[in-house]
Amino acid sequence: MAGLSVVAFFSSPVFLLVYTGSLCVSGHADHEKSKYTKASQWSHYTELVDSAVASYTDCSNKDCSCFLSVLTEDLKIWNEKTIKEEDVKAAKAYGVHYQIIKHELYRQQDCMFPFRCSGVEHLIPQVNICPYVSSGVVETSYHKSISVLMSVQAGVRHHWDIMYPAWTFWEGGPAVWPIYPTGLGRWDLQRDIISRAAEKWPWEKKEDQAFFRGSRTSAERDPLILLSRAEPDLVDAQYTKNQAWKSEEDTLYRPPAAEVKLEDHCKYRYLFNFRGVAASFRLKHLFLCNSTVFHVGSEWLEFFYPALKPWVHYIPVKSDLSNARELILFAKENQAIVQGIAERGRRFIMEHLRMEDITCYWKKLLLSYAQLQSYKPVQNNSLKQIKRTSPHGTTA
Ligand SMILES: *[C@@H]1O[C@H](CO)[C@@H](O)[C@H](O)[C@H]1NC(C)=O
Ligand SMILES: *[C@@H]1O[C@H](CO)[C@@H](O)[C@H](O)[C@H]1NC(C)=O
Repeated sequence: MAGLSVVAFFSSPVFLLVYTGSLCVSGHADHEKSKYTKASQWSHYTELVDSAVASYTDCSNKDCSCFLSVLTEDLKIWNEKTIKEEDVKAAKAYGVHYQIIKHELYRQQDCMFPFRCSGVEHLIPQVNICPYVSSGVVETSYHKSISVLMSVQAGVRHHWDIMYPAWTFWEGGPAVWPIYPTGLGRWDLQRDIISRAAEKWPWEKKEDQAFFRGSRTSAERDPLILLSRAEPDLVDAQYTKNQAWKSEEDTLYRPPAAEVKLEDHCKYRYLFNFRGVAASFRLKHLFLCNSTVFHVGSEWLEFFYPALKPWVHYIPVKSDLSNARELILFAKENQAIVQGIAERGRRFIMEHLRMEDITCYWKKLLLSYAQLQSYKPVQNNSLKQIKRTSPHGTTA
């Protein structure tokens, strides 16, 4: 019997509400720099942009090829070990167990986060109903015995992890009350909504300001909030409530700000992205505004992050935010350069992170994975069959 066993890991929310005490904002004066000319003051950054752009070649948007190095890297360790039944057994304790047997998807009865499961369960079967089903590769794989998926999606990469495209492309992203009560919503629809908003906010109309709204899921965000309080013209960054909000301590001793819809971020030129409890699912949305994305840290990943290049598609910011202020000033004084970054970032996401690229990645991942299984999975009768949904979300 042909089959595939998958264990999908969903990182569980851990809210860090610890007040760190490191509240100093360095309002460091620029007078020391005034001895330089404006051009040489920023030459370090302009050179980084120039050389990154010069060495970058756009990948083809055929067959999700932009992302395949991630797949190869993730599967490397399993090439040697192969995936064995005991690997799936060991993984079960940490995730939700799926099997694909003869093109049908099965899942263990209980699912801790129903929206995440339904996001996954929408995306996996798209692989089966796509037109390639009868191609040689797929036939071969499905007639071989296939198994596990060990994966921590959207997290710090461990050597045994295999990243898969997040459920949040379809359903079950982080809930943001009251504007996104069940998650950020379908990626295919958000692409249209935010692109239309971007048209209403051409660069000249956007506020020349950095912007962030989000809850205090990680204290890593504090320095930007504090910079905003010290220099409100430079940055508008405020904490909103989340489920765990108890007092103003959880919004760094200020009343919580109102949540802001993703499309309304387009009103600002510089958009900050932070990790939260895992990689932030909002990153892909921010690019659609045609504003410049300031991406903080590099440790937390989704499968498409490695294809995005610092200085080509976004401005990289240190995790401790020690260079945040300087980078915002650089952007304000080098508008043409950062508009270029904004435009390249938007184009990459529009052209390469389409729904079809997501399902393409799932398909290649499942097929490659299947080939690494060294045992023959047997259908587990305690799993329940998951009905397939059509690409537009109704049950087929
Ligand atoms: C994005 O912005 C750049 C300039 O900042 C502009 O040339 C380009 O047309 C914009 N793209 C879209 C799709 O709005
Ligand atoms: C079937 O799956 C359930 C849920 O993952 C698991 O507890 C059980 O051990 C499995 N049975 C066999 C025979 O593998």
